[in-house]
Amino acid sequence: MDINVLKQTARVMVALGKGILAADESSKTIQKRFDKIGLTSTPETNLAYRTMLFTTSGIADYISGVILYDETIRQSIDGTPVPQFLESKGIIPGIKVDKGAWKLANFPGEKVTEGLDELRDRLTEYKEMGARFAKWRAVITIVEGIPSDTCIWANAESLARYASLCQEADIVPIVEPEVLMDADNTLAVCQDVTEKTLKAVFERLAAHKVILEGMILKPNMVISGKKCPTQASAKEIAKATVETFKKVVPSPMPGIVFLSGGQSPDEATTNLYEINLIEGSPWQLSYSYGRALQDEALTAWAGKEENVKLAQQAFLERSKKVSLARQAKPS
Ligand code: 13P
Repeated sequence: MDINVLKQTARVMVALGKGILAADESSKTIQKRFDKIGLTSTPETNLAYRTMLFTTSGIADYISGVILYDETIRQSIDGTPVPQFLESKGIIPGIKVDKGAWKLANFPGEKVTEGLDELRDRLTEYKEMGARFAKWRAVITIVEGIPSDTCIWANAESLARYASLCQEADIVPIVEPEVLMDADNTLAVCQDVTEKTLKAVFERLAAHKVILEGMILKPNMVISGKKCPTQASAKEIAKATVETFKKVVPSPMPGIVFLSGGQSPDEATTNLYEINLIEGSPWQLSYSYGRALQDEALTAWAGKEENVKLAQQAFLERSKKVSLARQAKPS
C-alpha cells in the first residue's frame, strides 16, 4: 500500500470546483433510465450515451473523476480504452465494484450489498485497466421499525472490508452508505438514521484500519423523505446535513461527495449550495451525482446522434452550476 498515492488521488478527486460523475449504472439501472427516452439498453447504446457524456468539451473543468461500470471500463472510444480516454482529458477513471444490494436473510424489507468474493483479484484487474478509485454502495431503507441494527452493521462491515481491500491495491475507496430518500419519513428521522449509519461505518472502518486520508465518503444529504407531507427547506436540509456530519465524520477525511438520490437537478444544486454556505467544515463538500448531472442531458439526447451537441451543452451547463454550488457561488 502506498499511502501517498492514496492521499494524492483522494485530494484530486475533491479538487476545488470539481466533483465526480457517477456513470456506473448497472445494465438494469441504465435500462430504467433509457425507458424515459424509449431506448433499449445494449452495450452499443450504453457506449453511445456515455461517449456523448465523456467527450463533452470543457467537462474536465467540473468533473475530476468518473465512476464506470464493468461493461464500460472494457469499452473504447475512438479506439482508445475508456479509462485511458478519460485520463487523457485529465479525468480520473473509477469503477463500481459491488454486486448490488440483495435481500438480507431474516430481515424482511432490508438489504445487504454483496461483492466481496474474489474482490482482491477483481481490484487487481481493474487497476491494470487504469482504475484509480472504486465505489461500493450500501442501501439503508427507512420504514416503520426499519432499519435494524443488524442491517446497518452488516453493511458497515462490508463497506469496511471493501475499503481495506481497495487501499491494499492503492485504489481510493468511495464508501457509500446511502439512506434512501423515497419514503414518507421526516427530516428528523433521516437525520437519526444517517447519524446511526455513519457512526457504525466509521467504527468498522477504524476496526479494519482504513486510512481516512485515502478514502472518500459518499452519503445522502439529510433530507425529508420524498413522500413526507412536510418538506424541509434547502436551508433546513443544509443545517441538518452539516450538523450530522460534524458530529460523526472524522476530520482527516479529505472529502464528502454527496449522491443526488432522486432529487431533481435543481434541488441537488440548491441543496449543495446551501450546504457549502455554512462555514467551518473540515472536509471538501462536493458531489458524486448520477441522475442530477445526467437527467437533462439524457432527455436532450433522446438516443439520437443529431442531438449530441444539444445534450452535451445541457450536461456542461448543469455541471457548471453544480461546480459553482460546491464553491458556495450562486448560478
Ligand atoms: P444518484 O446521484 O442518481 O443517486 O446516483 C449516485 C450513485 O452513484 C448511486 O450509487
